[in-house]
Amino acid sequence: MIQMVTEMLRAQGHEVIPCNNGDSALESMEAHTPELVITDLNLEKSRTQGLDILQKARALNPPAIVIVITGFGTVETAVEAMKTGAYDYLEKPFKMEDFRLCVERALSYNQAISENVFLKRQLRDKFQFHRIIGTSRPMQEVFRIIERVADTDSTVLLLGESGTGKELAARALHFNSRRQFAAFVPVNCSALPENLLESELFGHRRGAFTGAINDKKGLFQEADGGTIFLDEIGSMSPMLQSRLLRVLQDREVRRVGDNTPTHVNVRVLAATNEPLERRLKEGAFREDVYYRLNVIPIQLPALRERRDDIPLLVGHFLKHKIHARSGQPFQVTRRVMTALSAYAWPGNVRELENVIERTCALSEGHVITLADLPAPLRECVPAAGDEPGSETDHLVVPHAPDISGPGAPAQRGVATAAGLAGPMAPGLLLKPLKDFLREQEIAYLHRALSHTNGDKEQAAELLGISLATLYRKLAEVGSD
Ligand SMILES: Nc1ncnc2c1ncn2[C@@H]1O[C@H](COP(=O)(O)OP(=O)(O)OP(=O)(O)O)[C@@H](O)[C@H]1O
Ligand SMILES: [Mg+2]
Repeated sequence: MIQMVTEMLRAQGHEVIPCNNGDSALESMEAHTPELVITDLNLEKSRTQGLDILQKARALNPPAIVIVITGFGTVETAVEAMKTGAYDYLEKPFKMEDFRLCVERALSYNQAISENVFLKRQLRDKFQFHRIIGTSRPMQEVFRIIERVADTDSTVLLLGESGTGKELAARALHFNSRRQFAAFVPVNCSALPENLLESELFGHRRGAFTGAINDKKGLFQEADGGTIFLDEIGSMSPMLQSRLLRVLQDREVRRVGDNTPTHVNVRVLAATNEPLERRLKEGAFREDVYYRLNVIPIQLPALRERRDDIPLLVGHFLKHKIHARSGQPFQVTRRVMTALSAYAWPGNVRELENVIERTCALSEGHVITLADLPAPLRECVPAAGDEPGSETDHLVVPHAPDISGPGAPAQRGVATAAGLAGPMAPGLLLKPLKDFLREQEIAYLHRALSHTNGDKEQAAELLGISLATLYRKLAEVGSD
């Protein structure tokens, strides 16, 4: 039977490792981490039984999916196997066609599962703290608080000038909490007139006002189980503030035109770029709402208060925004970096990001020089020695953490053009070790494969890894 099944599956293009007894199956699973394990429950003359194999397979990392084969009339054992995590069972004797379908189903199920896990992980990575760039002291303080309160349900009030990263921090809070798989709903409270914002936030009943043709769910309900982010909270009208108070106190919302409240499980994050204290004094903001919002305040520092982070941010934007989008590797000269570091940045990180983007778009070559910068930035460095051409010898290596340390000598941030022409993409010269090792690994796998003319079995042998591991690694980078 093993032989027949093996031949059939191989003919369909699957890699199959036949094992004649339980012990060799256990060893083989360890060595090859298979995607699918097919085992008879009753293994004659074997110490290791089908259930042992099932357990082992489920405990692998990643766990293998298991199909068990049972003897006729042994439904109880099959049920037990299903409870222990088998994906499916087949009763002997079975038709080959049923067997084939069962295998196909199991594999596509497994693929769906692992893709889902992958997508979720990707989503999470996207908003990991490392996307919020900064190693300066004030940013470390921000990270410390985010880390501490992310996975709580506490209300957080994000404070800071325009463009300092309040929304980015709000997303980091959400995507590092257990609510990460539920909705993150941002609402700009200054964008809509009072009555529209009210029905957006709380929803309305059909006929509640002219134009309310249908029942509408509010954003608080959309965010149920997740997080709502109330941006520019300072501009919320006193009427809406009192409606908000109900949500903050009792987690209850009432639709416009409806008297029955609905419970919502929502975490509230709010942001403002004008100090709320001023609005309090003016009587425009309710004190009780303020205290309920200001449970955990996080102050995002202005960019000019953390100039050390500017070279890092520049490197980050060149790599993740410009290079990733346009495929063009850009570099900046040392004098450009000096100008960028000296400027006051009233629009903070957003302004820096826009300047980089605009400058790269308008620049003729791939090296940004002082002349490419807008006038207010050019004026931040002394004009002396500004003769054309002299700058290109002093290209800055963006994204190099050691240029951001306080008091770091300027020379350390400087590389020669020759140094940058090395094998790695400019602007990415220093990257997280993990990324570097991964790239090296992928390149090495491809080298082995070209050495064996694409023969994966031989390549795996050369590399000293199992074929399954090679497949997995290639699949991970989408190049199988
Ligand atoms: N520390 C940071 N690291 C990387 N990018 C950042 C950082 N801070 C802000 N940004 C980027 O700057 C831009 C503005 O950030 P964000 O929208 O979070 O600011 P904000 O404080 O909400 O501004 P506003 O008050 O004007 O709404 C975004 O593109 C964001 O990705
Ligand atoms: Mg914002």
